[in-house]
Amino acid sequence: MPVTINESTVEQTNPANSSSSQRGGFSSALGTLFATLGSAVGLGNIWKFPSMTGENGGAAFIIVYLLSTLFVGLPVMISEIMMGRKARANVIKTMRQLSPSKSQPWWLIGVAGVLSAFLIMAFYTEVAGWVFAYIFKSISGGLLSTDPQITSQAFVDLVTNPLQSLLWQWIVLALMSLIIIRGVSKGIEATTKRLLPLLLVMLVVIAIRGLTLPGASQGLNFLFKPDFSSLTSAAILSAMGLAFFKLSLGMGTMTTYGSYFKDDQNIPTTTLRVMLSDLTVSLLAGLAIFPAVFAFGFEVTSGPSLLFITIPSVFASMPFGSIFMVMFFLLASFAATGAMLSLFEVPVAFLAENTRLNRTKATILTAFLLALIGSTAALSSSTLADFTIFGKTMFDLFDFLSSNILMPIGGLFIVIFAGWFWGEKNIRKALSNNGLLKNERLVTLFIVIVKYLTPILLIVVMLNGLGVF
Ligand code: PHE
Repeated sequence: MPVTINESTVEQTNPANSSSSQRGGFSSALGTLFATLGSAVGLGNIWKFPSMTGENGGAAFIIVYLLSTLFVGLPVMISEIMMGRKARANVIKTMRQLSPSKSQPWWLIGVAGVLSAFLIMAFYTEVAGWVFAYIFKSISGGLLSTDPQITSQAFVDLVTNPLQSLLWQWIVLALMSLIIIRGVSKGIEATTKRLLPLLLVMLVVIAIRGLTLPGASQGLNFLFKPDFSSLTSAAILSAMGLAFFKLSLGMGTMTTYGSYFKDDQNIPTTTLRVMLSDLTVSLLAGLAIFPAVFAFGFEVTSGPSLLFITIPSVFASMPFGSIFMVMFFLLASFAATGAMLSLFEVPVAFLAENTRLNRTKATILTAFLLALIGSTAALSSSTLADFTIFGKTMFDLFDFLSSNILMPIGGLFIVIFAGWFWGEKNIRKALSNNGLLKNERLVTLFIVIVKYLTPILLIVVMLNGLGVF
């Protein structure tokens, strides 16, 4: 007789719960993959990867990005997940628990992680708010103009209106809170499992549309033609920063998600799959955007203006463009959702485990704090437009600080901790699932990379990119 297991039974029997009856966990191998991929896939694929690639030397940038994900990103991701799973705790508690001596302040990495999560969420929820607003605007047809001046006006109207900017950010925060409150398996895992396949289908449809337009090849040239002369040291730092941002590294997200992995999940293969699928989504996003931009003769722009000004005009230029436009912003909102859930989960897991707050209260408090910090980013095009630090608005500052400084530094400490302090014996046990997986050689390779190659690369790229040498 077939046995049906409902989700709550699964959640109860999940070994993730073994250390604490309060903790949730992912319920299946596929769900784990989707949730983790849901964190990686985000606005980064749509808003950062394509334009950074186009601007920084096309295929040459992609090669550096690939090397960064392989030799820096993956080792950091594997380290975070294996340690999170071992400790079965939020990022601060994980670092404290695994530290070989209680007098060593490794838990500070966790504290920095929670702070970074707040900084990223501050600007991320704002961009996500614009994406949500654009779903409605594109349904109402208000964006259908082939004239970038008009679409630009629509965008300016939105971002310079303090009330609207704040409101959309709060709507996003409220939606995320509702999902987070439902729990790790029923909230995060169930949501990403539904959204990711839809996202992929819509992205493929739009990419095929773009690629079959006459004149699409110029966009391919822009995206892929290698130009090694644009690879400055700042561009190399950006490629590495992008690897961190893309794979949600160096700030506690993957440690927290790792704590929800089951004991029999194969960590090396899961992370490799996440990395490859995320790369596929990034490339598809590039194919969905640039061929069409060039086919209709638009200027390439970068950052938010590519997403919110150029893209609507591009879609307005094609037959049935409004349908593609709605699809585009819907898929962007799906991407943003999985990523935001994982950012949200970092402080929520901490508050729910280290304070007396339960998950619901921890979520509400987090949303509240985010609305507070986030408002500085939300208002950086209106009320606070002239308030700059190092010549950057709060929005740009949070973005630069998190991707290019905090996440790589967090990653550096994490690999140093994993390779040199937590140690080889623990790594071998963790990555082979206590000897059940026969992946000794792979793990040996990982240990060499994590101890030597990753930290050295990280230090060199950071110092070089920041102009120290
Ligand atoms: N990886 C997400 C993206 O590409 C962003 C993110 C960063 C999510 C850090 C979680 C943690 O959009």
